[in-house]
Amino acid sequence: MTKPIWIKHAAQLATLASNELGPRTKEAMSNLGLIEDGSLWIEDGIIQAVGTTTELEKKYSDKPHEAEIVDATNHLVTPGLVDPHTHVVYGGSREHEFEMRLEGATYMDIMNAGGGIHATTRMTREATEQELFEQTTRRLDSFLAHGVTTIEGKSGYGMNLETELKQLRVMKRLQEQHPIDIVPTFMGAHAVPPEYKGREDEFVDYLINDMLPIIAAEKLAEFNDVFCEKGVYTPEQAERILEAGKRFGLIPKIHADEIEPYGGAELAAKIGAISAEHLLKASDEGIKAMAKAGTIACLLPATALYLREEAAAGRKMIDAGVAVAISTDCNPGSSPTTSMPLVMNLACISMRLTPAESLIAATYNAACAINRQDQVGSLEVGKQADIVIWKTKSYQELQYLFGVNHVKSVWKKGIKVV
Ligand code: NIG
Ligand code: FE
Repeated sequence: MTKPIWIKHAAQLATLASNELGPRTKEAMSNLGLIEDGSLWIEDGIIQAVGTTTELEKKYSDKPHEAEIVDATNHLVTPGLVDPHTHVVYGGSREHEFEMRLEGATYMDIMNAGGGIHATTRMTREATEQELFEQTTRRLDSFLAHGVTTIEGKSGYGMNLETELKQLRVMKRLQEQHPIDIVPTFMGAHAVPPEYKGREDEFVDYLINDMLPIIAAEKLAEFNDVFCEKGVYTPEQAERILEAGKRFGLIPKIHADEIEPYGGAELAAKIGAISAEHLLKASDEGIKAMAKAGTIACLLPATALYLREEAAAGRKMIDAGVAVAISTDCNPGSSPTTSMPLVMNLACISMRLTPAESLIAATYNAACAINRQDQVGSLEVGKQADIVIWKTKSYQELQYLFGVNHVKSVWKKGIKVV
């Protein structure tokens, strides 16, 4: 048995503890469960006690010297951040497209000309599993350095069975070998592969009949995602794919209403998707339907900034009763970042979330969007000891001092990893 760890004297300990089950909405998105002069006691990677330092001094008065003491005086302590939407496993990079876009080309122009997702698909098909493993490891290290301890990862740069399997197997190996928890999503319908151009329905058949059964049998994914967008997959095609995935036990997610309003939010609510992502152009009806169905809005303000688009209506969604999560969307085209702290800042600046809402969106609600709320996303007894100690003294200061990495140290399952 390893030595217990006692983190004590946190200026602010944001536990996010609550009796409410499920994703937080409305006022509950502001309840951080703050403890001043807070303490955490950790044994075997699990949180054993949470309270004020005085409370824990009493509770453990017989064995204070058994623990390794971590002094968090003047520091904010939060749960490890959770990133519920990434395309982190990919080959190559696309910095030349960044320049093309600055010169006026749009994201969809580049994709329709064979670049964008198609370019990364070519590079990912060419890369060996080992190369993808090594490239992705570096990105995961960067996530950890920014306080992120759990991420979702999507396939979708293969769009053929062989490469989709390769991406998902890389995630499986990373889950076993890297400290970060990585939750896998199958996204075979990330674009229409060039060999199926004009035959989208045939690709949908292939995905449903030939890819889904194997991915499900090998237990390589928990979620199923589709890029439902004008010129990519229609809501009808997306529905077929997601309903088929459900029959294999895969939970639906949707890239919805990113570039144009297209009924994606409505579809997410209708089919019981756990979350709808992007939503820059979601309609008012779609937002209402999501609130009613309990669909989580996974919003990606770094992507909006990077594509120079107006961010999703985060404030309006929260006010309408939608549970909001936020994410980097880490990918080589529309958001090549691993910085969840930056995404939290942007959620405040460009979507008008409050600093408290932004923190919940990046922890507890993010965990709900990938079904990990029982293990991570808040600091409560029995949960994984995934913890960040920040150099700032408060969560308000963390959200205010933007564009800087304020991480002091990161603990994953009770082990110091940064
Ligand atoms: O979520 N919108 C579709 N997919 C990704 C971008 C992928 C890429 O450009 O490589 C996204 O933004
Ligand atoms: Fe995405």
